[in-house]
Parts: sequence; structure tokens; C-alpha cells
Amino acid sequence: MLIKLHKQLPESLHAILVPVRKDRLEAMRQANSAWHEGVIFDAELKQNAILYAGQDKKFFLLGLGEETNKQALLHAVIAWMKQYGKHLPESLGVDCEDDELLDLVVQGIVLGTYSIPQRNKDKSQDIRLKELHLLEDDDPAEAATHFGQVVEMAQTQQQVMDLVNKPANELTPQALGEWAVRSGERYGYQVEVWQEDKIREVGLKALLSVGQASPHPPVFIRAHYKPEGLPEDALRIGLVGKGVTFDTGGVSLKPNEGMHYMKSDMGGASVMLGAMEAVARLRLPLEVELIVCSCENAIGSKAIKPGDVIDSYAGKTIEVLNTDAEGRLILADGLNYSVRHFQSDVLLNAATLTGSCVRTLGYEQAGMFTTNDRLAAALESAAAESGEELWRLPLRKEHGKLLKSEVADLKNMASSPLAGASVAAKFLESFTEEHPAWAHLDVAGTVFGNTPFSKEKNATGYGVFLLIRLFEQMLEEPERWKR
Ligand code: BES
Ligand code: ZN
Ligand code: ZN
Repeated sequence: MLIKLHKQLPESLHAILVPVRKDRLEAMRQANSAWHEGVIFDAELKQNAILYAGQDKKFFLLGLGEETNKQALLHAVIAWMKQYGKHLPESLGVDCEDDELLDLVVQGIVLGTYSIPQRNKDKSQDIRLKELHLLEDDDPAEAATHFGQVVEMAQTQQQVMDLVNKPANELTPQALGEWAVRSGERYGYQVEVWQEDKIREVGLKALLSVGQASPHPPVFIRAHYKPEGLPEDALRIGLVGKGVTFDTGGVSLKPNEGMHYMKSDMGGASVMLGAMEAVARLRLPLEVELIVCSCENAIGSKAIKPGDVIDSYAGKTIEVLNTDAEGRLILADGLNYSVRHFQSDVLLNAATLTGSCVRTLGYEQAGMFTTNDRLAAALESAAAESGEELWRLPLRKEHGKLLKSEVADLKNMASSPLAGASVAAKFLESFTEEHPAWAHLDVAGTVFGNTPFSKEKNATGYGVFLLIRLFEQMLEEPERWKR
């Protein structure tokens, strides 16, 4: 999508989107010569109308009501694109002078060109749109870069959504690895995908154990981004993602209802792969190392069983009380590998880790766990910017005590079903070797949910913008984040 900036939108445009907040309705009526009293439009959220100006020019009014929630505004734009996208010409003007809103509108337009992969019939939308004409009074070169970046990030977000939406028979661990390789080749970062033999040789035993029942073997993805000429003291970010391509629960089998949603259990990996790709596309002056542990939590005669005691990369033994608490097992290896091989200033992991987090926070906010207040504040402020919300939940030693095992160094779940998301976070923490700036994001409720893309639950694209905003913020004062 090309971005063109203007002080005034060119007369030659045939289609112009006019997002209208309720408090701007009157002003819009006055200013738009095509407005007439016959038009039914009160600028309610998601309401839309078309004004015809002459033969070949349309103003698409899109109501925003009094909404301030960024996700709701974004969804309004996406829903509008779903409705009109295929009727738009190659160039669309956007009549909006509010820069913050314009960010969301551009993001929504790009995301709105996405459609969920369908195998029944060709429903491809044939969207012709290629150019966005925006209003900008200030520095046009700076604005072009800015909106260009929004487009790149939204395109990566589409990729991430596509990964999450793919069914598990298509998106195997191997396919996830191949995606990473292609993204790395395209945007300039290194990717290695380790197969089962190498995983065994290196000793990532928890990952091997969780993956041992599936015909689709596990992979360990290691990606590294370091732009040329980056100073030695640049910020070093470690990222880790849970890439369970399908979670049956294993022998501790999940109930059937809603089990098909578990194709989204690689949502944490997709957030981190997306963040990595976006960092590379934006050429941020950072060094990033990403680890994704990917496998399928299958049921079968080779599967781990409740009561099994398994080993881990860290050398800690784990009593597996419930094979459905598999994400923490593979992340134990991923996090521990990351801290031992990459001296990160900040370490972040994302995972669709617990149903408990969904029951606690619902679908709008991810759970954030960290003992580092500064990191928590930075994540909160990045979330406020991107509109991808999160909420800090406790990480305390009382919860960790519930993981004491009689037969192993720790067990993978507490005997009582209390504070499940916090207990899981404590489990992860014990593999981070007391990293001083580690945060765990439980994205179980946020990466997959209701969106304008489908009546069924589907991928939301949560997290990519959030992490980029976080990194940009950190880059304002990198020395504060150095270890
Ligand atoms: N992948 C699930 C968590 C999940 C639940 C993600 C709902 C998205 C939506 C995870 O592996 C899991 O099953 N966790 C268990 C842990 C329990 C057995 C200790 C859970 O949360 O029920
Ligand atoms: Zn599970
Ligand atoms: Zn899972």
C-alpha cells in the first residue's frame, strides 16, 4: 500500500473515506458540499453512508460515535473495509486531520484487506486498493515514513493473523519454522530451525517430551536480528514464544467443546515472530534474539502421562501432573535456552498459557507478569498507545510454593485450582535464572476472539503493535534499559 501525503486531498480522487466522530458531525455537514438533508447518518459507531458528489466521486462516511477504545475504532474501520473494500478504486483519500485517529484508520484499512483462508470456494475479494492519500500539514517526509511504518506493521499483523487462523493440519511445527525462514530471508534476519535430532542433542528435553506423541515432530526456532553497523552497546532484547500448533491436552484430554480453538495455541509464538519481523522491517536499532519452541500436544501411545517425571534444558526435573499444562514445559526450555545463550537486557515471552487468565481478564486484556516495575510501566504505556490492552497480575512466592513436588524439582501444576495464571507464571520464572527485566504475557484471551473478519472466533493480530511501541519507547532512553 502506497502512502501519498497532501495539504489538501486532490480533486481527482474518486473515493474518499471520512471518519466522523459524533462531535464533528455538524462540522462535517457544513464542510462537505455533497451533504444533503436526505442522508441518514448520525455518526454512530460503525454507521456508514455514501455521499455522491457529481458522477464519479463518493464520500464514504464512517461513524465513530463517541468511542475512545482503540480496538473498537479499529474494528469499525475493518468492518467498513470488509463491506466496501471490493468496491473501492485503486486510490482512496482519507479525510481526517487527527493524526492519532489516522494511524488507526490506516492500520484498519490495511488489516481490512485481509481475509481468512478458506478452502471451500474462492471468495477472494479482489481488492484493487493500492494507494492511500492522507492529509498532513507538518513535515511530509517524516509523515510518509511514519505512515509507511504503520502499513508495514499492519502487513506483518496480517501475516500473524494468517498463522493463527491456519488449521493445525496445515500449520505444523515444521510449517511454522518455514514461515520464520521465509520472513528472515525477506526482511533480513537470521533464522535456524532445529529438528528433533538436534533438539535431542542440545538437550531441550521438556520440548521433546511434550512433542513426543505427534507425527509432526517438534522444532526449535532461533532467530537473530542485528542490523549492520549496530553499536556494541545497543539494546539487546530476548523474545520467547509458545508455539503449540495444536493442544489436545494430551492424555489429560481437553473436553471437545471449543477444542478446535486450540489451533491458536501457537498465538504467543506468532506474536513474537510478528514482533521480530516488524523490528526487521522497521530496521529498529536493536539486537533481538527470538526463540520459539514449537510442537503439537497430541494424545497417543507415545504421549507423556500424568505422573511422568521429565527432564529439562535447565537440568531441573519436572513432575507432570497434568499433560495439558504443556506450554510452561516447552517455555521452560525456551526461556532457559535464551538466558543461557543470549545476554538480553530485557526478556519477554508471550504464550497462550492458561484458561485461568481468560477467566480472570476476559478477551480484552492480556495478563502481564513481572517483578520489574519499570518494565511493567513501560508495557502499560505501550499498551495505551497501541490500544492492545494488558493488566498486571501478581507474581509472588506464595504461588510458587504450590509447585513443590515430592519426587522432582517442581511439578507443572498446583494441586488446587487457585490463581492458575499466577502459578503458571511462577513456573516460568523458575527457568529465567533471575533475569532482572523479564515479563511474561499470557495472551490466551487476546490473540483469538471475535473480530469483524468472521462470525467464528479468529485471530486478532494482538501484540505486534504493542511490542513495537514498547521497543520504540525503550529506544528513546536505551541506557536506562541496559543491564
Ligand atoms: N493452551 C491452554 C491454555 C488456553 C486455554 C489457551 C484457553 C487459550 C484458551 C494451556 O495449555 C492449558 O491447557 N492450560 C491449562 C493448565 C492447567 C491444566 C493447569 C488450563 O489453563 O486449564
Ligand atoms: Zn494445554
Ligand atoms: Zn496450551
